Amino acid sequence: MELAEAISGRRSIRMFDGREVEKDLIGQLITAATYAPSRMNTQPWHFHVAVGESRKAVAEVMAMTTAYLEEYLDILGPEGVEHAARFYADLGSAPVVIAVASPVTGDPSVDRDNAISVGAAIQNLLLTAHDLGLSSCSISSPHWIRDRLRSVFKMVEGWEIISLVVLGYGAEEPHERVRHTDVVTYLT
Ligand SMILES: Cc1cc2nc3c(=O)[nH]c(=O)nc-3n(C[C@H](O)[C@H](O)[C@H](O)COP(=O)(O)O)c2cc1C
Repeated sequence: MELAEAISGRRSIRMFDGREVEKDLIGQLITAATYAPSRMNTQPWHFHVAVGESRKAVAEVMAMTTAYLEEYLDILGPEGVEHAARFYADLGSAPVVIAVASPVTGDPSVDRDNAISVGAAIQNLLLTAHDLGLSSCSISSPHWIRDRLRSVFKMVEGWEIISLVVLGYGAEEPHERVRHTDVVTYLT
């Protein structure tokens, strides 16, 4: 797949058909993620991959987030909240959940650079998933239940989950996407 096609064709998918994802493919996604740029090549990331029983444990914890979705009623509207609630109830049957973690240093400048680096790694992962015929969604809403998730993923002190990437074989067509175009100022 051409890069431009991968970039424009990737979408967040929140419903999966439940088919397992081959371990080799998961390995390719992680490898792609590690090719991302990072602050002084520090590569400030770690990928915790949950499948099978551990994925079930993650989903059980994530189901608790439905209680917080009302906070987004103004932004998402009732239909959006309902869609999100359906997704969080069992992570859309996604067979794989990857917690992308980064060290937390307490230095705002380093933490910001780490977040930028991790964002680049996640995008590599999402684009590669799309290229391999997989679907995915990167979610940050787990911040509501950060501590519970930390314990399911057996995270060590000093590391924080930045995002959960749920992935599998997609089973929904996403709504049409609108992109803002008034986002650039050219200096002459
Ligand atoms: C930092 C970040 C946080 C996100 N958090 C969530 C989330 O908590 N729940 C969710 O369903 N989608 C989440 N998304 C996915 C966005 O909703 C999605 O990328 C956006 O609506 C654009 O749609 P697209 O990915 O199909 O282009 C997140 C995306 C990013 C980059």
